[in-house]
Amino acid sequence: MDSNNTLHSYLLKYLVLSALSFLIGTLHGMLQVMPPIRAWLDSIGSPYGGPGHMIDPLAHAHMNLVGGVVLLAMCVTFYLLPVFTGRAIYSMKLVKHTLLWVTVGVYSFYIIQIIFGIWEGQLLLESRDYSDIQHVYGMVMAVSGTTMAVGFCTFFANVLLSVVVKSK
Ligand code: HEM
Ligand code: HEM
Repeated sequence: MDSNNTLHSYLLKYLVLSALSFLIGTLHGMLQVMPPIRAWLDSIGSPYGGPGHMIDPLAHAHMNLVGGVVLLAMCVTFYLLPVFTGRAIYSMKLVKHTLLWVTVGVYSFYIIQIIFGIWEGQLLLESRDYSDIQHVYGMVMAVSGTTMAVGFCTFFANVLLSVVVKSK
């Protein structure tokens, strides 16, 4: 019963963060169809390439899909696993870690795409070179992407261990 309460308190956080991500992602979607913003995004290459590509679709798609859909899918998986296996989730610590890594990963991904999209977009419109900034972008994106990937790995490990190993 106690372990169920602990699990449910973590899963509530998954649900709230998923809902918040859908809120941010859909508000972003609504903003990017407004004519002045659309025209600005088009002028910096969106959606096919150039800095505009980072804002639409990359930032928008990942906030909705990873923040919204994936966190919800992970929440449902952790809720249903004990029902289907008849055993507790293998590691509660990993449930907590997955949420932390995926959330920090996807929110940093979103913020980086927005900041570099606007910054490089402005330089493009002023016909200035932004290759130095691209180098910094590559490094911060590698850290952010790896953070998300760690969250996906801890999720997979916990699901696999919950199915094949009895919890401690
Ligand atoms: C109010 C809600 C939303 C609006 C107004 C909206 C609007 C848009 C717009 C204008 C685009 C760009 C299309 C283009 O430039 O080619 C787009 C792309 C996209 N949206 Fe949304 N969106 C919304 C919600 C969502 C949600 C809830 C999801 C996912 C669960 C989603 C996933 C995507 C994806 C994956 C793309 C990129 C598609 C591609 O790769 O071409 N959107 N959205
Ligand atoms: C570790 C996790 C992830 C990382 C680091 C990551 C990173 C990226 C990057 C860098 C691109 C751009 C590729 C390009 O240059 O065009 C991309 C595209 C995309 N990713 Fe992810 N991604 C991750 C997970 C996911 C997941 C879980 C989903 C869906 C549930 C997803 C949906 C998409 C979509 C729809 C696009 C294409 C957007 C477009 O250009 O139309 N990603 N991703």
